[in-house]
Amino acid sequence: MNALLLSKYNHLEIANLPVPVPEPVDVLVQVAACGICGSDVHGYDGTSGRRIPPLVMGHEAAGIVAAIGSEVSGFAVGDRVTFDSTVYCGVCTFCRKGEVNLCDDRQVVGVSCGDYSRAGAFAEYVAVPARIVYKLPESLAFAEAAMLEAVSVALHAVAVSKLEGKETALIIGAGMIGLLTLQAAHAAGCSRVFVADIDTTRLKSASELGADKTLLASGEALTQEILQLTAGRGVDVVFEAVGRNETVTTAIDCVRKGGTVTLIGNISAQVDLPLQKVVSRQIRLQGSCASCGEYPEAMKLMSAGRIRVGPLITAVAPLSDGPAWFDRLHSGEPNLMKVVLDPRMGSGQVHE
Ligand SMILES: NC(=O)c1ccc[n+]([C@@H]2O[C@H](COP(=O)([O-])OP(=O)(O)OC[C@H]3O[C@@H](n4cnc5c(N)ncnc54)[C@H](O)[C@@H]3O)[C@@H](O)[C@H]2O)c1
Ligand SMILES: [Zn+2]
Ligand SMILES: [Zn+2]
Repeated sequence: MNALLLSKYNHLEIANLPVPVPEPVDVLVQVAACGICGSDVHGYDGTSGRRIPPLVMGHEAAGIVAAIGSEVSGFAVGDRVTFDSTVYCGVCTFCRKGEVNLCDDRQVVGVSCGDYSRAGAFAEYVAVPARIVYKLPESLAFAEAAMLEAVSVALHAVAVSKLEGKETALIIGAGMIGLLTLQAAHAAGCSRVFVADIDTTRLKSASELGADKTLLASGEALTQEILQLTAGRGVDVVFEAVGRNETVTTAIDCVRKGGTVTLIGNISAQVDLPLQKVVSRQIRLQGSCASCGEYPEAMKLMSAGRIRVGPLITAVAPLSDGPAWFDRLHSGEPNLMKVVLDPRMGSGQVHE
């Protein structure tokens, strides 16, 4: 099969690799869409240490069942499916509680990090355990389905924030994750959702996707705007979707006393904590990692048009264009959102 192989750092090539042989618990998926994730781009040049070559990356995928392992039930050849990026063990304490994103033996599809190496979906075929596979509704195109992983991340961030409805919310960072969290917050019943970024193009997308107000500001200026918008009180919940020192501090400044700051962004490994503000204003800092069980809800909300991903897809391209797209994303070219690769393109097999 054709696969996009990271043969060494900063170098992707189309390689001819054997089609994976599914284990008894696996489903073999013919890939019809696989999104390029920010983490793939950070892995590509070696900075994250989580894409050690040689590796086929890609974990945001959808496709068609091509074969099933001997122990698999509930799936048949030809089913349209997607799968979670997290391969959980199913037996550890966390998995037994349903917290599969915290699995002690957690692996991620398309990651190679020293502890393990698992081939991903920038290839014509990928094998994954059936327990992470979901059937797709007809209403979702494959390219949209490749966004389910990111949508689930946003839904999980909202879920761990334990909202009751009618909250005022601020999203800091209108990237892929922030723009999906905006929609997830509305779907969860937030009354007003403000979105802040330092990039006007991103804020334009936020407006189109329903932001009640967009704010081209950061730091102290953003805090002042938020205080004005909330009669000096601060918002009920802040979703931090950047992950830098400044934005985490601002998130804490913008939340009301007793409010929640949900931390999704994690570009920086470490940030300063304004400890006394957090303690004396009794703020809840809530981390959010990946997702656990949000895929069905994500499919429902996307099918109903309540979470829209179309405007976030920059391009759908054949696997052979993968190296060029990785270069463009890696160089930080502005206004690129999700790029989805379809390994069937160019092979005459494309159909939804
Ligand atoms: N917790 C999780 O499970 C999870 C999953 C996926 C991504 N992430 C993290 O979420 C973060 C966002 O991911 P993304 O894919 O949306 O990235 P992205 O690059 O698409 O978006 C980041 C946005 O932050 C904006 N930004 C940068 N500095 C800012 C500032 N000072 N103030 C306001 N906005 C600022 C940028 O303009 C951009 O729009 C990253 O840190 C990523 O690692 C976390
Ligand atoms: Zn991803
Ligand atoms: Zn586990």
